[in-house]
Amino acid sequence: ISTAVIVVAAGSGTRLGASLPKAFVDLAGQTLLERSLRSIILLPYPVQVVVVAPADFVADAEAIAHKVAPGLEELVSVVTGGATRHDSVAAGLAAVQSLVHVVLVHDAARALTPTTLFADVDMAVQATGAGIVPALPVVDSLKQVDVTGGVLGIADRDQLRAAQTPQGFPRAELEAAYAAAGSSDYTDDAAVFAANGGAVTTIPGDEVAFKITTAWDLNRAHQVLGGIPD
Ligand code: CTP
Ligand code: MG
Repeated sequence: ISTAVIVVAAGSGTRLGASLPKAFVDLAGQTLLERSLRSIILLPYPVQVVVVAPADFVADAEAIAHKVAPGLEELVSVVTGGATRHDSVAAGLAAVQSLVHVVLVHDAARALTPTTLFADVDMAVQATGAGIVPALPVVDSLKQVDVTGGVLGIADRDQLRAAQTPQGFPRAELEAAYAAAGSSDYTDDAAVFAANGGAVTTIPGDEVAFKITTAWDLNRAHQVLGGIPD
């Protein structure tokens, strides 16, 4: 096994405001975590999968993993996450098997991410040895504002991209970057990787890999699924 996918699912989902942690919320008959795992397991080659779950939901995550990948217990494991996404990724990294040399980190909340995006990111890491971020052009005009909302300036959107997951990295360099970062405020893994000197390149992202953050996003996901039979 040369690739591992860490699926971070240990957040509480404050902005979604459901009664369960976000990854365990239902979306048209399957939890967000189940949908994320199904997409990964459809890769045409075996990968290690590490699910990072809230402490109280490790058993639920194990049940979901078992349902999605029966008989693949040695490839799919669940570990307990931390207070921040950064801590959760670090916990996942600690469970990566010794032979793995590419690590993908994925938000369980991007539940509709297609299998092809995992394959594309993995292939790009293998081909370049760089950190790989799937990203989309920014379509809105961007304003820098003060605390009152007053506009201070603008950013050139042509030079900006919105980063998605899965993000992929050479394993040893990602581990070194996490070891060097300690705890941090970085919002994605590419930022941790780049802060330690790693080169990061974007590849085209996918609209359907959007992050389910708010109730509106969950609604949108429902509507997307309405057009794509399971
Ligand atoms: N995540 C995690 N551990 C944390 C925080 C977040 O594993 N301590 C995961 C989430 O489960 C999610 C991904 O990181 O799959 C992206 O985070 P986000 O969308 O912010 O999810 P939450 O932190 O759960 O949501 P919110 O910020 O609204 O509370
Ligand atoms: Mg969060």
